[in-house]
Amino acid sequence: MCKTFPKDFLWGGATAANQCEGAWNEDGKGESTADHMTAGSLTAPRITTRGINPNYYYPSHTAIDLYHHYKEDIALFGEMGFKSYRMSIGWSRIFPNGDDAAANRKGLDFYRSLFEECRKYGIEPVVTLSHYELPYHLAREYGGWVNRKLIDFFAKYCEVVFKEFKGLVKYWLTFNEINVLTMPFGVAMAGGVMGDEEEVAFSIGDLSKIKDEPQMRYQALHHQFVASARAVLLAHEIDPENKVGCMIAGMAAYPYTCNPDDILAAQKRMAEGNYLCGDVQVRGEYPAFSRRLFKKLGVELQFTEGDKALLKQGHVDFYSFSYYASGCVSTDAEVLKAGGNMMMGAKNPYLEASEWGWTIDAKGLRYYLNEIYGRYGVPLMVVENGLGANDTVEPDGAIHDPYRIAYLKEHVIQMAEAIEDGVELLGYTMWGCIDLISASTGEMKKRYGFIYVDKDNDGEGTLARSRKDSFHWYKKVIASNGADLD
Ligand code: BG6
Repeated sequence: MCKTFPKDFLWGGATAANQCEGAWNEDGKGESTADHMTAGSLTAPRITTRGINPNYYYPSHTAIDLYHHYKEDIALFGEMGFKSYRMSIGWSRIFPNGDDAAANRKGLDFYRSLFEECRKYGIEPVVTLSHYELPYHLAREYGGWVNRKLIDFFAKYCEVVFKEFKGLVKYWLTFNEINVLTMPFGVAMAGGVMGDEEEVAFSIGDLSKIKDEPQMRYQALHHQFVASARAVLLAHEIDPENKVGCMIAGMAAYPYTCNPDDILAAQKRMAEGNYLCGDVQVRGEYPAFSRRLFKKLGVELQFTEGDKALLKQGHVDFYSFSYYASGCVSTDAEVLKAGGNMMMGAKNPYLEASEWGWTIDAKGLRYYLNEIYGRYGVPLMVVENGLGANDTVEPDGAIHDPYRIAYLKEHVIQMAEAIEDGVELLGYTMWGCIDLISASTGEMKKRYGFIYVDKDNDGEGTLARSRKDSFHWYKKVIASNGADLD
């Protein structure tokens, strides 16, 4: 395989603040919504608690303690030859309550130092402004993103970080996987709508128990669209060098059969799952099909004057997305269900699944890249992709992860194919480049990293970092710009 990626292709890795930083209440950081989520597993739910219950374990509180290890971790990224590092800023590290008058200097200093460290190794930061968390106070006192006031709080936070990190950061992503708000479970996770109960259980293995409130989640989504557009305009105004992307959970949906009903259902899934958000954020307007969808769901969006123009002006510069798995859409109720990355679908008989039931489909990445580029014609970036697996540490300390290398290799090959197809691809940041807390289950043992972190599901371990076989493999991939995949 000797296909060539663009010369300045942004090879790298990705993490999110609440899944790796720890130091949840240090140096003035406020509580975030993620700090209220306990650990679970594929079968046991994560529980969101109103207070912090001393009998529970909350993995974000310590995570892999990147807050105190970032120099060591970035040095390892540098050793692999990373050209980019996608990470997120914990909003509550900058504005502890979200509605504070002034920003927390220590929070800004931490990220400044982290970005400077990246620059030392020639690593370009790609910064997510909101990755599945918001200051807890905004969730509790304002009701989360259902409340329009959050747009102003978010804009203020963005303005502060754009000014502070001008010249250090050029690539920004607004909301991580914004399209999860098109699904019932998204309202809590991405919308910060917590409800009044003392405890709420959330299980990726059983999404059927989640109460759906379409009006709430689409209104929250609309507010995030407007907030994202405001962020784009601010970013461009503060530094014309800034490039801002949307971030969408890539849901490649295949029809299960050639039954026209399945074809139409899959087309609908692609549209409602991906294009609704893509159209608003890239084209600056709601797609025609949204009218029928909202009517069916009884959703009446509260638009204010100015929203329409703002969405149009604040369209993003590029489209970034996560891609883990594809799903099949069937109109036959009997067809077996298989879990995907936060989406359900029928089991694809041609594909294998990961230990956590996520269908492995590298060609789906090529399919998705072509679909999206064909629709929007803007540069794309794959900002998450990877395999969550249970790794074993050998007696000599080695970690052999051929399954991860095989997964990544196939996805890199399909990215190269898509580039050959004509897709403009800016970069690839593999998810969880260093082991971190799983977002869906709160586990530590669902590992994605090139770098192993000695910590278990109960929070025990030395936090020592070590290189897996895939570390050395990825180093070669980057050094050869995607030519050497063996
Ligand atoms: C994406 C999220 O959905 O998938 C990440 O943006 C998440 O935050 C990743 O960690 C992998 O999912 P999980 O549940 O295996 O951590």
